[in-house]
Amino acid sequence: MRFISGIQPSGNITLGNYLGALKNFVKLQDKEEFTDFLVFIADLHAITVPQEKETLRKNIKSLVALYLACGLDPNKAHIFIQSEVPAHAELGWVMMCNGYIGELERMTQYKDKKEKQVQGVSAGLLTYPSLMAADILLYDADVVPVGIDQKQHLELTRDLANRFNQKYGETFVIPEPFIPEAGAKIMSLTDPTKKMSKSDANPKAYISLLDDINVINKKIKSAVTDSDGKIKYDLENKPGVSNLLTILSCVTGVSIKDLEEKYKDSNYQSFKEDVASAVVSEIKPIQEKYKELINSKLIDKVLDDGRDYANYLANKKINKVYNKIGLGRKR
Ligand code: AQP
Repeated sequence: MRFISGIQPSGNITLGNYLGALKNFVKLQDKEEFTDFLVFIADLHAITVPQEKETLRKNIKSLVALYLACGLDPNKAHIFIQSEVPAHAELGWVMMCNGYIGELERMTQYKDKKEKQVQGVSAGLLTYPSLMAADILLYDADVVPVGIDQKQHLELTRDLANRFNQKYGETFVIPEPFIPEAGAKIMSLTDPTKKMSKSDANPKAYISLLDDINVINKKIKSAVTDSDGKIKYDLENKPGVSNLLTILSCVTGVSIKDLEEKYKDSNYQSFKEDVASAVVSEIKPIQEKYKELINSKLIDKVLDDGRDYANYLANKKINKVYNKIGLGRKR
């Protein structure tokens, strides 16, 4: 079985990316059923919204170091940069020609991100899911771990794969989503009805894995809650408190029910102190490891190996796809 997932280098990764995605990758890389475990840096996706050249390069490198610092093991996982494997863009184009504008316009993430663009909406923002479908289908990935926010894109991937298979004959494996039970969606600290995002204009909305420890403490202590004063999980009426409970539960492994019981007589201040200290204990060792790695030679070595292996797999698939469609000459 093959596993694939990626994160965009569109900023420093957040506690949301970590709890919703990366932490699970680290657990899953040990599972024996995965013959290939592929994790990439989705830089082509990142340019669907404007990026500054130097910042993008810095974020790419920093993301690799964070993958490793969080525990991804290059002996178990192939780590590579999406733009260094041209077949992603090639199959992305094929998928774009295989999908419909109406399907893409229905994607919630497109609708949300479109609203945030001040200087025009790129065509890439709309066609992003075609590239995401290519990322997955190129490798015949069976299992794709996604936060709940990406579930709609994965359903579209399945539709595109089925459509292609019906038109041209069996070509792609239909991928299954893997959504972790807890921590599937971490919300913004300033507006807990919105998801926590690394590109949020307000840095208080998210916790970056590279935030200074004092900053992390401050951000959690000033997280928006409510005036009710009770620590209870109630997404509709108490989204802020519920989000903090989710974070604490993901980090400590204690169930939300047990946490509600533990904090039933506490006030928000002491509850937030506990959340902050649990988050800091999780992030601090990652930051220490990151500092050792960021300027080491290991990063290029890991990326070279990952690029070569991913190209080997991806080129086989794109040749097959081009042959099925009748593109170019027979390969
Ligand atoms: N808030 C979140 N809670 C849980 N999981 C999350 N993910 C993202 N935000 C949360 C998961 O992280 C993985 C990588 O995401 P991505 O960088 O490819 O894209 P994204 O979902 O658009 O992440 P961001 O942080 O919101 O980035 P920007 O701000 O650039 O759009 C995915 O598996 C995602 O589910």
